Amino acid sequence: MTEWTWEYEGLAPGDERLRESLCALGNGYFATRGALPECDADAVHYPGTYVAGCYDRLPSTVAGRQVENEDLVNLPNWLPLRFRCRDEHGTGPWLHPDTARVVDHRQTLILNSGLLERRTTYEDSEGRRIALRQLRLVHMADPHLAALRSEFTPENWSGELEVQAALDGSVRNAGVPRYRDLAGHHLVHVHSGTAAPDLVWLRCRTRVSDVRIALASRTDCADATLRHDQHTDDRAAQLLHLPMRPGRTATVDKIVALHTSRDPAISDPLQAAVDRALGAPSFDDLIDTHLTAWDQLWRRAELDVPGEAGRILRLHLFHVLQTLSPHTAELDVGVPARGLHGEAYRGHVFWDELFVLPYLNLHFPEVSRALLTYRHRRLERACRAARDAGYRGAMYPWQSSSDGREETQRLHLNPESGRWLPDHTHLQHHVDSAVAYNIWRYWEATGDAEFLHTKGAETLLQIARFWADRAAYDEDLGRYRLRGVVGPDEYHDGYPDADRPGIDDNAYTNVTAAWTLSRALDLLALLPDPRRRELTERIAFDGGEAELWRDVSQSLYVPFHGGVISQFEGYERLAELDWDTYRKKYRDIRRLDRILEAEGDTVNRYQASKQADVLMLGYLFPPAELAALFRRLGYALDDATWRRTVDHYLCRTSHGSTLSGLVHGWVLARARRAGAWKYAHEALIGDIADVQGGTTGEGIHLGAMAGTVDLVQRGLTGLETRGDALWLDPAPLPELTGSSYGFTLRYQGHWGVRLRLLPGRLHLAVPASDRSPITVELPDRAVTVRPGETCELDLPEVELPEPG
Ligand code: BGC
Repeated sequence: MTEWTWEYEGLAPGDERLRESLCALGNGYFATRGALPECDADAVHYPGTYVAGCYDRLPSTVAGRQVENEDLVNLPNWLPLRFRCRDEHGTGPWLHPDTARVVDHRQTLILNSGLLERRTTYEDSEGRRIALRQLRLVHMADPHLAALRSEFTPENWSGELEVQAALDGSVRNAGVPRYRDLAGHHLVHVHSGTAAPDLVWLRCRTRVSDVRIALASRTDCADATLRHDQHTDDRAAQLLHLPMRPGRTATVDKIVALHTSRDPAISDPLQAAVDRALGAPSFDDLIDTHLTAWDQLWRRAELDVPGEAGRILRLHLFHVLQTLSPHTAELDVGVPARGLHGEAYRGHVFWDELFVLPYLNLHFPEVSRALLTYRHRRLERACRAARDAGYRGAMYPWQSSSDGREETQRLHLNPESGRWLPDHTHLQHHVDSAVAYNIWRYWEATGDAEFLHTKGAETLLQIARFWADRAAYDEDLGRYRLRGVVGPDEYHDGYPDADRPGIDDNAYTNVTAAWTLSRALDLLALLPDPRRRELTERIAFDGGEAELWRDVSQSLYVPFHGGVISQFEGYERLAELDWDTYRKKYRDIRRLDRILEAEGDTVNRYQASKQADVLMLGYLFPPAELAALFRRLGYALDDATWRRTVDHYLCRTSHGSTLSGLVHGWVLARARRAGAWKYAHEALIGDIADVQGGTTGEGIHLGAMAGTVDLVQRGLTGLETRGDALWLDPAPLPELTGSSYGFTLRYQGHWGVRLRLLPGRLHLAVPASDRSPITVELPDRAVTVRPGETCELDLPEVELPEPG
């Protein structure tokens, strides 16, 4: 393996789905899992192709109840290419791992060029050996194109190879075993046909959302002696015969175009797909333009971290860029928690953009803006949800997909017990603050006042309005409270034996709501007068409301116990879990909630968290900002209290989400504390080692992938974009980055700003442009760097993390 490749040697049926996710190729518009083209979906293989934002909603009956789920639809498979040997001994079976001996097999994901290469040698029952090399791409310059080159070399026989190249519309959503009782048959009206001697097509619709989908496939093959269409109801197929002579290679190129009726600038998807496939250049030319597009992407996302960590970070970045590329800027889509790589969480959008946008803001701000615009387009729906729940303002859904309604399932299956259980995670209203936070940080990083003053302000003000209205004044406490919510730690969805769901005063929710209200007040103050007037007229905002916002922002309740911030009111009354016993009894206790429920108990009874909850505050806010936030709320948060708080939750968290290791690693690294590397490492290997036990095969964890890259970029450098300056306060973690690492940034119109951290020094280069100089704020001084200048700055001495 090299710095830029991921290789898998030999076939490993148990790992195949994991490899398919990690070897998926995409371009932001669509992605296809790294499945073998000769294999259909079965217990081992799961080909899947997903177009960003293409959802369909189906009803199902589970546990005697009718439920509805909206899925990111698995679209027709464009990969199928099967082959078999023909000679005087007869025609063999279609070759795949179940019908032939796999003599050797290797799959290589090439990150710098966005290619997937596989080499396999099959031997059939007649002893005929054939070596296959395939090269695959999902085009990064033309987001509607994909291509597959297959090179066949017979080793010890002569005759003919039958090759069938197809588009398969018989697929369904069946990639997640836990969803097997739910309807997954989304594609209807499947038709196939031939547009030219070398070009077949397939079209269909999604069942309820009525999205029309079309694929066209051109097969380029100079060697074919025969071509013959073999369409069936749900497959468009073409059969080719290739003469075979030992050692002589025959090549088949499949060039595929994909369109849906959601695409702009098309008449109808079928015509668009056929035209595009017909007009597409040869495979070799497609590779050239694809490589140029990837070169440009990598230049904008340059990250130079040495060693194995650098290799993994490059893989993470690769999958982030394949899910959210510059093409995403043209789409109406959010951040799918599991990428476009699988069907877990049905392609839904949660709060995970909180872990993704900070990276994009400093490299692809136009993509961040599009992702925030996805939220703005659904503002009206969020206002309706708030109204229906009896509140003012905007209540964004915990899970969002097509139209912004709440998509969180109301029943979920515990695979440990086989029981369908009520799901209250939709009470995670803290997603509202995540949207507000992302708007504000986007503006700080980019200076895009046009967005902040328009869509940003419209969204942020309605979120603030929701929090102010949702908060209820408690006379006894003399404070505002947010009751009946669920915090980031999804384990606690109610008090033990309570008759209502939700817990009260989740510290994370209350503090981030206070922050949101404060920013909304700041925003009102900085809006240009005419615009403030427009907005306040439009949402019927009056001075009294601003007073309420100020009041709530200063007096939301934050519970404490025993010198630490309480995760929520009454947390300290919960029982202590006997962690050692559970660790001994069960190999893996990440999903403690499922284990306890299967035992007839409930995690609600214990001081046990799924993931970082209170500690999320240390992830979002640097210490000084967090202390100021608490001060404004009338609480003292000193270093000792924060340290005790970190210790308290560190040993009471099961890390049942990949986001948990990331946040713990970040918080400990910023505090230069022991354990930082342990958690950062856990986040780093989250997907490659599938630490959540089989979940990566159902889709990558995009938040953790982007978050680890951002850990290096912002976490370890202390990089903040505030008050028109770049603030830096490095907290090195040499286990992660080695002694020297670097990256480029795009900051307020400066492209390709280059930073390199060396022991005790910072190297900064600002490319020439007509932009204003950049002010760099270091812990002990401020420096101005002009466009075209390079400088080397001494850094104040820093402590390294505590050992251990
Ligand atoms: C986590 C959430 C996250 C979701 C999607 C869940 O397991 O608890 O915080 O948003 O996965 O990634």
